[in-house]
Amino acid sequence: LLAGPDGRELAGRKAVVTAGPTFEPIDPVRGLTNRSSGKQGYAIAAALAARGAEVTLVSGPTGLPVPVGVTRIDVETAMQMKAATEAALPADIAVLSAAVADWRVDTVAGGKIKKAPGGPPTLALIENPDILAGIAKPGPKRPKLVIGFAAETTDLEANARSKLSRKGCDWIVGNDVSADVFGADGNTVLLVTRDGADAWPRLTKTEVAARLADRIADHFSPKA
Ligand code: CTP
Ligand code: CA
Repeated sequence: LLAGPDGRELAGRKAVVTAGPTFEPIDPVRGLTNRSSGKQGYAIAAALAARGAEVTLVSGPTGLPVPVGVTRIDVETAMQMKAATEAALPADIAVLSAAVADWRVDTVAGGKIKKAPGGPPTLALIENPDILAGIAKPGPKRPKLVIGFAAETTDLEANARSKLSRKGCDWIVGNDVSADVFGADGNTVLLVTRDGADAWPRLTKTEVAARLADRIADHFSPKA
């Protein structure tokens, strides 16, 4: 019943996708952020919606347009991204592709920090919560399929596999970021699951999204 007509294999399924960087303020004019264009996550949200899923895209600042058929929630910080992602549950599918800042400034200055003769300020950082690990935790609200990303410069498979078990997710989309990827239209992916790993050829981010959405659809309604 859930399988839709041709090309709408994910009709009736709900998905939450995170994308883009987070921005952690230091003071009213400065902040810490991560490198991420958001292109891959946006393409995944679009591909899931094109297959009929009801998609909520929780996005950090990217400047990208909202994909067709997708509901976007705009956030800035990791704490806001976590709250918005959890508010989008229950969902069948979670694809957490955002480049979440690992740390935030412990005490955000209320006014602009001025240059002073004593030298630069020391920023005390605290760790942000792991949104993916929280979503993947066993419980009634856990999506049936939880997919994380791992951007690595070395040992892609080993790092991706250790993230898979540490975070408790079902699949990891491993990204080789030693090659040109940030802001680029191409991506080289290793899809790591509990059963194995599948190296994809270099594809455009749109093609990666289509292939991932097809794998997701197949996971829910395997083709005979
Ligand atoms: N992630 C998350 N919340 C965080 C950090 C990461 O949800 N606070 C998610 C990312 O969206 C991604 C996956 O976890 O899907 C892996 O992110 P990554 O930065 O590679 O993992 P970390 O555990 O932060 O490890 P590292 O020390 O390599 O940065
Ligand atoms: Ca990280």
